[in-house]
Amino acid sequence: LGGVALDELARDQASGTPTYVYDLDAIAREARELIAAFDGAPGLVAFAVKANGAGPIVRALAREGCGADVVSGGELALALACGVAAKKIVYSGVAKTDDELDLALTAGGTGIGAVQVESLEELTRVAARGAALGVRARVSVRVNPGVEEDTIGTHAHISTGHDEAKFGVSLGDIDAAIERANASTHLDLIGFAAHVGSQLASIEPYAQGARVLFELAARAIGRGAPIAFVDTGGGMGIDYGGGYPSRPAEFVRAAREVQRVAGLERLSLHVEPGRALVGAHGVLLASVIQTKRATIGGAPRRWLMVDAGMNDLIRPALYQARHRVVPLVRGAGEASTPWRVVGPVCESSDDFGEHLLGAEPPARVAILDAGAYGFTMASQYNGRALATEVFVRGGRVVARTERAPRDAWVRERAGVGEG
Ligand code: LLP
Repeated sequence: LGGVALDELARDQASGTPTYVYDLDAIAREARELIAAFDGAPGLVAFAVKANGAGPIVRALAREGCGADVVSGGELALALACGVAAKKIVYSGVAKTDDELDLALTAGGTGIGAVQVESLEELTRVAARGAALGVRARVSVRVNPGVEEDTIGTHAHISTGHDEAKFGVSLGDIDAAIERANASTHLDLIGFAAHVGSQLASIEPYAQGARVLFELAARAIGRGAPIAFVDTGGGMGIDYGGGYPSRPAEFVRAAREVQRVAGLERLSLHVEPGRALVGAHGVLLASVIQTKRATIGGAPRRWLMVDAGMNDLIRPALYQARHRVVPLVRGAGEASTPWRVVGPVCESSDDFGEHLLGAEPPARVAILDAGAYGFTMASQYNGRALATEVFVRGGRVVARTERAPRDAWVRERAGVGEG
């Protein structure tokens, strides 16, 4: 990865395992490819920070010209701290607190690019905060485009743009939203947004969402709203090993085609990729603690017990996701022996699935495509320290985090005082 020797990193006392390693050059390349798909037309690639909030990554993407899609005051402050211009930040999320709204409306002096409201109730609350602060709030309406779940075709837990989801303003309420925004002296309705789902199976649901958004934009413009952009969201998938039909740039081109047909090319097109920018460019290194062999019903069973668990990478446990597991040093013989790779956490779902490794298993492995929704979803469950992170650019390590000392968690938890 990125020209560094992963096995050396894994053996290194300073980083050890479990450790995430990221390729900053490849992440920057992804951003450039996506930005190129705009062919100079007005647009914004707003990186969904929830996928990976590490400073070196957010800064690298900001340098390429990316903005940020944030979902909390914390992510908003992080994006600003990493050099993302306030104007290039959009803020999604179904329940933002007043404090968070105030930060959004005042960041950088004139507020972020847009607060993406997800309900009529929130629209009213943003107007109230605007009034309290004496500002006009730039808002966009995150729409629930009502795409059929079957069309979205991704795991139910990451499928958002259908009628039963808690996200977005329903199509039946959009007219009321436009009216409410137009009537308010503290709101400027400048866009429409949607996020149909993540790791989408194809471009079609994305294009369907885009068609709905441009239709609504035309309607709102007709009613005098100062619409400046349409945001077709994230959801571009990556290849976790089973193949993936499209590059992220093709989602952008599909949205631009919908835009052209709608005759709204003067609007800015926003996209909010998370996974597509970082997913394939991070790995999780783990060491093998021990093997366990058993004979069950006369058949041999093999487990490979590694020191990374579901607390480090929860995707397999939460979404039945499959990440390839490969040896860091290829052992003798063919990789044709099935090993069930599991972590040390006391949960049956702490299981990375079956992988073909050598008859003599490796001492260390890499869990691939762990750059998105890996570290950001990690926890200290079972009293485990968070994994360390190593950042690579130009073939060398340019930044790394330190592992918390073994007793840090003990001090933190035992130290909770009583009165
Ligand atoms: N925009 C909004 C409003 C979102 O909710 C999301 C992701 C994105 C953009 C970025 O989506 P992406 O391009 O990464 O698909 N933890 C799950 C994924 C959850 C996605 C949540 N929303 C996983 O590991 O698969």
